[in-house]
Amino acid sequence: MKRFSKEELKANNARYLWHPMAQPKAMRETPPDIIARGEGSWIWDIDGHKLVDGVGGLWSANLGFGRSEIRDAIVAQLDELAFYNVFRGTTHPRAIELSTRMAEFMREDGVVASFFSNGGSDAVEGALKLARQYWKIRGQRDRTKYIALRQGYHGVHFGGMSVNGNTNFRRAYEPLLPGCFHIDTPWLYRNPYTDDPQELGEICARQLEREIVFQGPDTVAAFIAEPVQGAGGVIVPPPNYWPRIREICDKYEVLLIADEVVTGFGRTGHMFGTRMWGVKADMWCLAKGLSSGYIPLGMTAIAGKVAEVFDGGDAALGAVTHGYTYSAHPVAAAAALATLDILESEDVVGNAARQGEHLLRRMREIGAGSHLVGDVRGVGLMACFELVSDKATKASFPRGASEPMAIARAAYEMGAMVRVSGPNIILSPALTISREQIDLLCDILQQAFNKVEGG
Ligand SMILES: Cc1ncc(COP(=O)(O)O)c(C=O)c1O
Repeated sequence: MKRFSKEELKANNARYLWHPMAQPKAMRETPPDIIARGEGSWIWDIDGHKLVDGVGGLWSANLGFGRSEIRDAIVAQLDELAFYNVFRGTTHPRAIELSTRMAEFMREDGVVASFFSNGGSDAVEGALKLARQYWKIRGQRDRTKYIALRQGYHGVHFGGMSVNGNTNFRRAYEPLLPGCFHIDTPWLYRNPYTDDPQELGEICARQLEREIVFQGPDTVAAFIAEPVQGAGGVIVPPPNYWPRIREICDKYEVLLIADEVVTGFGRTGHMFGTRMWGVKADMWCLAKGLSSGYIPLGMTAIAGKVAEVFDGGDAALGAVTHGYTYSAHPVAAAAALATLDILESEDVVGNAARQGEHLLRRMREIGAGSHLVGDVRGVGLMACFELVSDKATKASFPRGASEPMAIARAAYEMGAMVRVSGPNIILSPALTISREQIDLLCDILQQAFNKVEGG
């Protein structure tokens, strides 16, 4: 197999490779960094420049890079059975083991079954489709609508994109799925209602109730939301929000779908975001941390209440006519089993909670001394600086403003990888990151802010 030289890699990247969320031409003009190696929370670019990874791959390499247990499980599985499908007539040992394991892992949440796929967007698509099917089996064929939150992110398939709450991701692909409606996110920093978290949680929960009643409860299939919004800018809802949402969904029999693609498997300092809020969903969308990002894998976790209805349906209506060639891919399933072993034997989630508190404390210090930082928010190891052009009025930067990128570039040069999304600088390191690495990340960010603000 021919390996490219450094020069060939740099020259060919944007010539032949189209990147998600980027204009191909822009990637040629401002080439992305080429990351060549990873170990724990360290990464090296193609020029050998060493960085602490504040991004965790993309909220995904939760156990860091180079875990030999996951690698060994992958290699052993490649030797044993590189692939077989789970479409009706066949299955394989890893699929059975992983679905059994997930039912045990999420027993306290009420999960009884898993539907596997290839990533987060798939996991969302599965949940949205199964929600409609659930109502068809129950004979309520008009229950087809979805309600979701503004600023929410649910991946890029047509269903997920239609419930996304960021119009930037939708515009180029409209018209989308009809019957998707959006309500306000309980976003303390930016809302027209109140500065009181409890009150905000209640106001926004009531919006869900109003929307359900307005649409007609017998037309609403499901409400979908992230327990903490990730891509939308790490928006942490007030503690009363999710319990109220659950109550309202129960009152009108609307299914509650928790999109835990980011929050699942410890990111918030709790194993699942719904657990943090003391709530059980009806379906969960999981990916990223499920295989620690080593191999693409997604899954829709299904609660007993939903599974019972499928079991009770007739053969035609109850059949899940959805799925992918690579659903429950054995190599991905092996990676996930090794990931779950580590999550159960090491205090990864506790580390995320402890390091997350330290991270937020340090970020708040940086924010307090910066005229660019309007808000610092987060929970566990998901955190964000929201940059503003005027701290007093919270005025946003115009789209495409250079400041967030300038800070990220300065940090990169000094040895820290962070991610810019709109006006936000987002941090989502591996859950195994050490305190020293968090301190390094924050020391570098402090210097990057100083550099950009100083001149
Ligand atoms: C909450 C949420 N849902 C769904 C997705 C889509 O996942 P994927 O990119 O694996 O398709 C993401 C991706 O970041 C996400 O953050």
